[in-house]
Amino acid sequence: MKVGVPKEIKAHEYRVGLTPGAVREYVAAGHRVMIETNAGAGIGATDDDYRNAGATILTSAVEVFASSEMIVKVKEPQPSEWCQLRENQILFTYLHLAPDPDQAKGLLKSGCTAIAYETVTDAHGGLPLLAPMSEVAGRLAIEAAGSALKRSAGGRGLLIGGVPGVQPARIVVIGGGVVGTHAARMAVGLGAEVTIIDRSIRRLRELDELFEGRVRTRFSTIESVEEEVFAADVVIGAVLVPGASAPKLVRRSMLSSMRKRGVLVDVAIDQGGCFETSRPTTHADPTYEVDGVIHYCVANMPGAVPLTSSQALNNATLPFGLALANKGFSAVLENPHLRAGLNVYRGRLTYKAVAESLGLPFSPIEQAAA
Ligand SMILES: NC(=O)c1ccc[n+]([C@@H]2O[C@H](COP(=O)([O-])OP(=O)(O)OC[C@H]3O[C@@H](n4cnc5c(N)ncnc54)[C@H](O)[C@@H]3O)[C@@H](O)[C@H]2O)c1
Repeated sequence: MKVGVPKEIKAHEYRVGLTPGAVREYVAAGHRVMIETNAGAGIGATDDDYRNAGATILTSAVEVFASSEMIVKVKEPQPSEWCQLRENQILFTYLHLAPDPDQAKGLLKSGCTAIAYETVTDAHGGLPLLAPMSEVAGRLAIEAAGSALKRSAGGRGLLIGGVPGVQPARIVVIGGGVVGTHAARMAVGLGAEVTIIDRSIRRLRELDELFEGRVRTRFSTIESVEEEVFAADVVIGAVLVPGASAPKLVRRSMLSSMRKRGVLVDVAIDQGGCFETSRPTTHADPTYEVDGVIHYCVANMPGAVPLTSSQALNNATLPFGLALANKGFSAVLENPHLRAGLNVYRGRLTYKAVAESLGLPFSPIEQAAA
């Protein structure tokens, strides 16, 4: 199959759809890969790196879209991209169509087959192409907290791990899923005193075993959240209620009882945030203060480390991308997890929740492909 990778054009997006390492895998499987010149610049991969991996470098996105049967990207297609997609072309990328009617209409009009990373599933009921970015964000959350705790950044002037004879930071992680587990892992590694709060007892049991007593676990109630937040130097917001906005677990009225110049990192900000006082920030200006508490609410945290993020994303997308390249649309029909990723097929919306939230007709794949 002819596989094309355009350079990402969304503002401040430095990741790339295929790393040179992934290109080698596609080429070894007999596929032709076309990369737009400089597509890998954000991760330090040169055109020569891609040539050495077996790719052909094309000078424009227009050429990539025109000559490829499958497009592999990272971010949802922008208007100038969706108008270049066409019937029989496969698009494999993050789409996040539910809140984006313009993109949905653009994809429907193109006639392309669009598979969204975020809805591809795995055999354990997870979302394997979202998980790597949650891993990155969870680990970064502790780095972000460490920076914000510094006096020069407005924080308490506290070193997360302390030193011998001096108390380390007390870190509370609300939500013990992928983000929360990776945040806790980093925090424990640095020597912090860590508590994880979750509303799933099963998850708390798993975490208790995983961390072998090195974290405290607490069931999520109004009382436990209050007690832990009031005693914390850092609170990491990592909750997710699938398909819903994040619940507001820390209210503004609670901030005045928190440690002065403590830090809130709201990783769940992309779902509206789990602190009442959260509002999205950027890598260029990541923090602000409310009632003496520093807030860090960057909505695209993995964008800070595009090299790690691109590699982690490629590791996860590779088996699915190769299946699509090897078998074309048949891979979607054969593999229920890829099928779960199918959002748009030849002018029809094939993902129920997306169709419902956009108020557009839904066509089950069996019907759309008939
Ligand atoms: N800001 C970013 O750049 C970025 C990057 C990746 C993920 N995220 C976001 O981080 C959030 C967490 O993602 P994840 O992959 O870890 O999700 P996940 O589903 O793996 O984990 C979420 C956890 O929250 C728990 N939870 C739900 N309601 C709760 C409550 N009231 N109290 C305590 N725990 C509760 C669940 O039981 C679950 O264990 C999501 O909103 C995700 O979109 C943000």
